[in-house]
Amino acid sequence: MAKTKAVYACSACGAQFPQWAGQCGDCGAWNTLTEVVAMPAPAGGRFAGYTGDRYVTVTPLAAVQADTETRAATGLQELDRVLGGGLVAGSVVLIGGDPGIGKSTLLLQVLATLSGAMNALYITGEESPAQILLRAERLGVNDSELRLISETSVERILETAHREKPRVMVLDSIQTLYTETLQSAPGSVAQVRESAAQLVRFAKQSGTAMFLVGHVTKEGALAGPRVLEHMVDTVLYFEGNPGERFRMLRAVKNRFGAVNELGVFAMTGAGLKEVRNPSAIFLSRHETAVPGSVVMVTWEGTRPLLVEVQALVDQSQLSNPRRVTLGLEQNRLSMLLAVLHRHGGLVTGDQDVFVNVVGGVRVTETAADLAVLLAVMSSFRNAPLPADLVVFGETGLSGELRPVPSGQDRLNEAVKHGFKRAIIPAANKPREPVPGLEVFAADRLVQVLEWISEHT
Ligand code: TYD
Ligand code: MG
Repeated sequence: MAKTKAVYACSACGAQFPQWAGQCGDCGAWNTLTEVVAMPAPAGGRFAGYTGDRYVTVTPLAAVQADTETRAATGLQELDRVLGGGLVAGSVVLIGGDPGIGKSTLLLQVLATLSGAMNALYITGEESPAQILLRAERLGVNDSELRLISETSVERILETAHREKPRVMVLDSIQTLYTETLQSAPGSVAQVRESAAQLVRFAKQSGTAMFLVGHVTKEGALAGPRVLEHMVDTVLYFEGNPGERFRMLRAVKNRFGAVNELGVFAMTGAGLKEVRNPSAIFLSRHETAVPGSVVMVTWEGTRPLLVEVQALVDQSQLSNPRRVTLGLEQNRLSMLLAVLHRHGGLVTGDQDVFVNVVGGVRVTETAADLAVLLAVMSSFRNAPLPADLVVFGETGLSGELRPVPSGQDRLNEAVKHGFKRAIIPAANKPREPVPGLEVFAADRLVQVLEWISEHT
């Protein structure tokens, strides 16, 4: 192989330099130079003018042959759903998450199942085959057809894969791999990007499905500045608290399915077990109604989920009272407190406000607004809301309630779990009454507050 020269490119402007520097000499950006593979200039210069023989065939859209994508069942229906209905041949799936969350466990289980039906290869850069065997024994899959290699050089891995022709591969983890074309250390942005690029190219050419494991950095990004996310077909995040039982797998990008789809698993002594009906596992089900707790129906991908929003409002000792959210957006809380002040007359300027979604779930949709507002109010007044009440809805700056998607399905889910009353935006009002559910559909926040003071 010809010796390739190291070149440093600025990720902001693309300028290239023979040496690394802290600042890009071209655009002046700091810390943007990373090592890249220098492409040898093509013979005869980059562009040799029109020669008349380098055209490619143009296809009318209507004449394109439809690919029937083949999907393989992974043995875990929750994972299949997050993937959009199974694993697509030739697709590259990136699974990110904190260390210890269960990425290796999940993939070992999946690969052991898949290895019964297709040629599967597990590449580990982090653990020895003996460690993998220990885990496989624990999972009860040590007698599967699964094959392992322990290697970190991308070139060697691809050469092996070329010969072994696996239909599905796991690379655990992308941060331990390195390509021989670069001199920087494994785990550096340049290495991660170049290694992934080679793997993706192989997956597309050979039709091999590939799982890449990526550790999340302290800042919450995958391998530095999210360099991988646009290169792969699907990005899944494994979320949850390693100390707790439940783990959630969320699709944040998916070329073959819905995004924000959520799969729920429980970590047990014998690996990850799927939770088929997760709707109510995140409710803490107090014996009696408690102040500051509100149940809402959130929408995750293609299904509803009941979650409990808790708030604690407490006299602050600080000149800048604290606004803390767990599982919700921080800035949105400040906005909601302002709305509550302006349209509900509730002054929280001298109070610390903590809001938490129970069970480590992250709610990113605005349908949580109403639940947050009511939880804050309930805690502030130390008055519990009815235990059979469920709410959802977005709140606007002028105190209006705005509709959210899938209102009817959310209400149906609430009824299924025994809730008797619901407060929702007027525009989400169901056309026909929902049996067993008293629905209060309001236009404005003021109406909701009136309803609450009549019912508590
Ligand atoms: P692991 O898959 O090694 O995490 P990652 O690859 O994301 O870093 O998961 C490790 C955690 O899961 C570890 O703390 C032990 C626990 N665990 C179980 O509780 N039960 C099991 O059957 C297995 C295999 C692991
Ligand atoms: Mg691991």
